Amino acid sequence: MRPASIFRLSAVRLALTFAGLLALVVAAVFGLLYWQLTSDLEDQLQVRVLERINFLIANAEKHGLPRLIEVIENEAKAVRLEDAIYLLTDASGTKLAGNIDSAPEFPQWGTLAGADLPGAASAAAHETYMSIWSEKPWGHLLVGMSARDSQDAKASLWDAMMLGLSATVGLAFAIGGLAAWRAQRRIDAIAGTLNSISHGKLSARVAVTGQGDDLDRVSVNLNRTLDRLESAIERVNQTSSDIAHDLKKPIGRLRQRIESLARRADDRLQDDLLESLAEVDNIVGTFDALLSIAQIESGAQRERFADIDLEALVKEVVGIYRPVAEDTNHLIAPLPMSGTLPNIRGDKDLLVQLFANLIENAIQHCPSGTNIFVSVRRGRGRFLEAEVTDRGSGIPADEREKVFNRLYRLDKSRTTPGNGLGLAIVAAIAELHDAQVRLEDNNPGLRVIISFPVSA
Ligand SMILES: Nc1ncnc2c1ncn2[C@@H]1O[C@H](COP(=O)(O)OP(=O)(O)OP(=O)(O)O)[C@@H](O)[C@H]1O
Ligand SMILES: [Mg+2]
Repeated sequence: MRPASIFRLSAVRLALTFAGLLALVVAAVFGLLYWQLTSDLEDQLQVRVLERINFLIANAEKHGLPRLIEVIENEAKAVRLEDAIYLLTDASGTKLAGNIDSAPEFPQWGTLAGADLPGAASAAAHETYMSIWSEKPWGHLLVGMSARDSQDAKASLWDAMMLGLSATVGLAFAIGGLAAWRAQRRIDAIAGTLNSISHGKLSARVAVTGQGDDLDRVSVNLNRTLDRLESAIERVNQTSSDIAHDLKKPIGRLRQRIESLARRADDRLQDDLLESLAEVDNIVGTFDALLSIAQIESGAQRERFADIDLEALVKEVVGIYRPVAEDTNHLIAPLPMSGTLPNIRGDKDLLVQLFANLIENAIQHCPSGTNIFVSVRRGRGRFLEAEVTDRGSGIPADEREKVFNRLYRLDKSRTTPGNGLGLAIVAAIAELHDAQVRLEDNNPGLRVIISFPVSA
């Protein structure tokens, strides 16, 4: 399946939507958590800086400026520059004590980069300090503390959240994808069954998993409907073969009477009676064909299946029909033989009839002078594809299903002999052999392709 068409499947779309929504919700929750935790970390750092500066101010106010200078000098020596900065200046900005020489002034809180601080050693170059200035009559005091720990904590938090987010989203997509794939497989199976039904395989049924879910309920109802449909169609078919069967004897008697009358009648009457006899023969032909379809559909001939060289069989049929075709000025091209194709399982007489019906159709429904091509080749997978093509007027696309119905003929063929059962017989024989029949446009003309499974 092409990627674009995958996204058109409702189960896949649903799974993607849920996974996407889950990703959005998880991202929003993580974002909120991150914002809350980082602002907590900043608050904690500010509290520590405030405690420190308040202690120093209280000290100065209690013991005087010289004592503060001493405390700050000691403090500046005791801490590493990477961890904290101290600066005490007089009101004009001249440094009195501290581990940096100067710093830009700002009202209250600010973030100072180590690289911008004159007098700071290179160790501080990569640090940022959460800092506060305090202006007092006796001088200006700056205390800053490295935001490294809180930044490290923020980075770890970010990494952990990204990992969590990708794991959650990945898992959501994987589980959603798996669920979608399983649901889609079952929907495909239902679609496949309906497709087989639409191609005439009325015995196809949807597998029921026994999980009792909605798809199971749909499948059970569908199978029940198909059971009813199949038995209704079987009843109709049975009725038509019963009629054919029951009428055969009286029609046979009628035929005999007309024959004996014709023998005794004068010339004028004899012509009329012979015409009636031809009509009766046509009716008998229709009944025989209907009965033969019923017989093929019963599947009894499967018992007689043998290995068949399809190429040789088709060549034989082509050989039989070449003179018939020449009589009507049609030309059947010689069959290209590969001689290396595997056998199929089948009934020889029925397969001969299948190809005979197709070739007869090409002769009967194409104007004289039309070429007919027959071939057998290896198909895709373990299949052989036989093809009968002509360059006549073809069958319009909307009639290609209908021509397989019993007694169905195109309007343009009403005047030609025949009773519209040739392709119905072809379909029944193909079905018996598990073969698929396709009608395609040969631009111009008809292309009939039958793919037979190769014998195991
Ligand atoms: N090769 C073809 N080219 C054009 N039309 C075709 C071709 N084969 C079949 N058809 C059309 O499909 C219809 C059904 O074909 P089908 O073989 O079932 O019946 P038929 O040929 O009319 O009669 P029968 O085969 O019973 O003698 C035909 O009446 C004809 O209109
Ligand atoms: Mg026919």
